Amino acid sequence: MKILVVGSGGREHALCCSIKRSKKVDEIFCAPGNAGISSVAKCVPIKPMDFEAMASFAVKEKIDLTVIGMDDPLVGGIVDVFEEKGLRVFGPRKNAAIIEGSKAFSKDLMKKYNIPTADYFVAKSPAEAREYLKGAKFPIVLKADGLALGKGVLICNDAAEADDAVRELMEDRKFGASGDEIVIEEFLEGPEVSVLSFVDGDTVKIMASAMDHKRAGDNDTGLNTGGMGNISPSPYYTKEVDDFCKENIYQRTVDAMKAEGRPFKGVIFFGLMLTKDGPKVLEYNCRFGDPEAQVVLPRMETDIIDVMEACIDGRLSEIDLSFSEKAACCVVLASNGYPLSYEKGFKIKGLTDPLFSKEDHFVFHAGTSFDKDNEIVTSGGRVLAVTALGDDLRDARKKAYSAIDHIDFENKYFRHDIGHAIDEV
Ligand code: AMP
Ligand code: GLY
Repeated sequence: MKILVVGSGGREHALCCSIKRSKKVDEIFCAPGNAGISSVAKCVPIKPMDFEAMASFAVKEKIDLTVIGMDDPLVGGIVDVFEEKGLRVFGPRKNAAIIEGSKAFSKDLMKKYNIPTADYFVAKSPAEAREYLKGAKFPIVLKADGLALGKGVLICNDAAEADDAVRELMEDRKFGASGDEIVIEEFLEGPEVSVLSFVDGDTVKIMASAMDHKRAGDNDTGLNTGGMGNISPSPYYTKEVDDFCKENIYQRTVDAMKAEGRPFKGVIFFGLMLTKDGPKVLEYNCRFGDPEAQVVLPRMETDIIDVMEACIDGRLSEIDLSFSEKAACCVVLASNGYPLSYEKGFKIKGLTDPLFSKEDHFVFHAGTSFDKDNEIVTSGGRVLAVTALGDDLRDARKKAYSAIDHIDFENKYFRHDIGHAIDEV
């Protein structure tokens, strides 16, 4: 089979590596890809939001299956464009990707179908937001309705902060139309767990849990980022949590989408918070997480193409999804300054270290490119995601942290405490 992957980050590199392990696959393309991805796939310079160009490429190259890694094209309706042209594609249609594309939609869905989540109010104007906030309890959470690169969530400790947040989101329109409506939400506390699942419209199968580390600095300080590293499984994801979510969250979400006439096919990422009153949904994403994919996919034993095809054809119930007992830890190597400003263009040393040809070590590229001498240089905030598999979480963490010593570039920055929960549970 010929496969096309859409995206250019560490998640798409991990997807390409899993796809390459499939017995069914002969050739992989990635648009636009990055320097690391070019060692597993042919990179093609097509912009992910140029759906027509992407679909024309798939027609011309006789691509058998296109896998969409990123949220923006999914929310924008790339799957519908591919399907109209008779192309096979893995991911939700636009009317289902709204589960991530609109927080107001997903909150209303959860409320209607009794899926546990934080109490909330949807404000359609700054005046409505301010009126509601008069009676609010603090801290409180304000969220832009639409996509905002994971940065549209503001936790406000008092009325003045909430007022600033309304201004930023709705009046200054920091995230453009994404802030036309906002969700004002009860502040929840507890450990966060990411759960990735495959969905075929009816059936949902859980992959594995993971624990992300979103803040830039050690001890969960500093700004929110796309994710600075993670571990899988999450030490907080117990059998009791799993049972509760299976009964009250996963299948109920899939059934709700079907009942709304928006059957979901693809990956649902459940962002959960384990509160003292039980697990609650913080958010849904309509795609693999980044860097969750970098710890979950290396543990997956089932042929990923078989699973993706089963999702498209509504046969997921026939698939025996299996994951290795091994644990995984991923440490993100970023450019110092991320998520704000940072320099790029620095040569990366150590990528060909023999350690990285071992089966239990992976270097997924996120922000890398080739310079004029054809050497790999930094080109983004998150540069590399280094994953190691181990016999247990401690072993995986030890291996991941010794692996990153083999890689060096100017301005290399990373968190020293990925997986700290291992010592706390
Ligand atoms: P979201 O994009 O909705 O997952 O929000 C991004 C991050 O903001 C989450 O991973 C949480 O750390 C935090 N967050 C979101 N909603 C809440 C909430 N209701 N209470 C506390 N923290 C939250
Ligand atoms: N790591 C969080 C996300 O992919 O949204």
